[in-house]
Amino acid sequence: MAQILDGKKLRDEILEELKVKIDTFEKKPSLCVILVGNNDASAIYVNNKKKTAEKLGINSLVLTYPHDVTEEELLAKIQELNDDDNVNAILVQLPLPGHIDSKKITNAISPLKDVDGFTAENFGKLFAGQKPYVYPCTPKGILLLLDKYNIELDGKHAVVVGRSNIVGKPMAMMLLNRNATVTVCHSHTKNLADIIKTADVLVSAVGEKLIEDNMLKPNCVVIDVGIYKDSSGKTRGDVDFEAASKVASFISPVPGGVGPMTIASLMLNTVELFCLQNKRSSGT
Ligand code: GUN
Repeated sequence: MAQILDGKKLRDEILEELKVKIDTFEKKPSLCVILVGNNDASAIYVNNKKKTAEKLGINSLVLTYPHDVTEEELLAKIQELNDDDNVNAILVQLPLPGHIDSKKITNAISPLKDVDGFTAENFGKLFAGQKPYVYPCTPKGILLLLDKYNIELDGKHAVVVGRSNIVGKPMAMMLLNRNATVTVCHSHTKNLADIIKTADVLVSAVGEKLIEDNMLKPNCVVIDVGIYKDSSGKTRGDVDFEAASKVASFISPVPGGVGPMTIASLMLNTVELFCLQNKRSSGT
């Protein structure tokens, strides 16, 4: 039976340590989240981020906008936040409504306040082998989880399913930086099952039931980033957890695997940006 990669437990350890550090700061770090429209899942994620930040002593501000907000209004607000010394970290929750150019909005954030690492400057640095101010939260959390369980990546075949800017692309690059041999699969990939079968480490970030146990290489490591509700309302990941647990050596559950690690990374990134802006060592 596979060992469970317990994201909740590691999140709690990370946040406990981070709180001790934040308690030593005279001025508190601050995170501003922009939420547009009424996407239920986004509202839940943002609320979790806010609650976690507050527990740690991070000042957290959520700015909500109606679905029909204009690009100009958002850009003006981001400019104001960029210029505000009391704001250390800015996050625009994605996805944004279709009439708004997400890339333009993301790129308006000052790279030094870009807590997701999504601006062209930070993303470009990651892909150019330079150090961005911070790394994207979900892939960062996944690597922290793999490291916690001493999972070797050097020379391993890592298969990433999904090519989003939020997970798939930065994940692939961060695995490559760890000397994994990386294959990125997506909706146009042919022979997906054959490729998955060769994965030592599988990262699935699709959001639908996709991975059956008979597709897995024995003793592989399974990271399930997908999260959705099935027809009975149960929260599920991309992978058939029960069946895959019998084949894999390690597996991350949904919920309780990658999700908590994304939040932990967001908090780490907020503190890292605060420290960079205040010229002190974050030690993270
Ligand atoms: N939507 C889903 N995941 C994320 C994330 O990590 N950052 C942002 N900004 N939006 C998201």
